[in-house]
Amino acid sequence: MKLLLLLLGCIISTSAKKCNGVLFDQRYYEPEILKDGLNKVRQLVYSRKDNTVYFLFNQGVLAYDGSVGYINLDNRLSGYYKGIRNATSISIDDKKNRIYIGSIDGLYAIGDRRIPEKFPLYEPIQHLFFKNVLYFTNMRNRMYSFDSDGVKVVDDMRDYVAETFVVDNDGNMLFTNGKKLYKLKLGTRSSAFEIITRSITALSNDLEDRLFAASLDGIFVYNKYKYALDKMSNLHEIKALTFNNMLDPIYVVFDLLVKLKNPVNCVEDDFFL
Ligand SMILES: *[C@@H]1O[C@H](CO)[C@@H](O)[C@H](O)[C@H]1NC(C)=O
Repeated sequence: MKLLLLLLGCIISTSAKKCNGVLFDQRYYEPEILKDGLNKVRQLVYSRKDNTVYFLFNQGVLAYDGSVGYINLDNRLSGYYKGIRNATSISIDDKKNRIYIGSIDGLYAIGDRRIPEKFPLYEPIQHLFFKNVLYFTNMRNRMYSFDSDGVKVVDDMRDYVAETFVVDNDGNMLFTNGKKLYKLKLGTRSSAFEIITRSITALSNDLEDRLFAASLDGIFVYNKYKYALDKMSNLHEIKALTFNNMLDPIYVVFDLLVKLKNPVNCVEDDFFL
């Protein structure tokens, strides 16, 4: 009996755990498709108050015509907002639970009434991101900020143009230009530096204030102590990325909206197999 136990112990210690699933940040997940048939999704944002994912997708046939849709993760009800012409970007003010939408006609916001309302900013917006203030770029990819004082040029970005960008609470900004990724610290007047990685496909952030870059080489998180990217996952060709309140990734690949579920079942990789 003792020998058997010893043998068993030996077998267990030499066997490895096998988990089926997608590896992200050292955890295995099971992918779950939330929605299919989504055309050219560019961005996702998650509202923890509504447990809802908002997505920017294309409804145009010949030319891109952006629309904002949503799916509630509790009851899976989904739909889209009419009345916004050619949406270009979305972002969320998590404290106010307000969704900002940039469009060819300027700025909209979805507040507590859950319908888009026009905001007094009428310049065409190419991209926007909210972090304490609203940052946006115009059609020439020049960056401005917008608050109750009005529109101001973002000084640190005078010498740069940005196609997409994300900002954290410390003012660390990642921005793309021509699929290349740059880092700049807002408010320091220091110059931007290029971060080496292959073609960026999406930028994102999570509720822990981390910044993410999805690329053809996988998904990376910005490490503000190393001024570099740490790899999180081999997931690639990700068109848009966000995270729910449990920090589970939600992303778009091909025309699928996918949520990663945790935990998955792991089995002992049997010694005899
Ligand atoms: C929507 O805006 C984009 C620029 O972001 C433009 O290329 C496209 O033609 C516009 N589409 C429509 C239907 O106006």
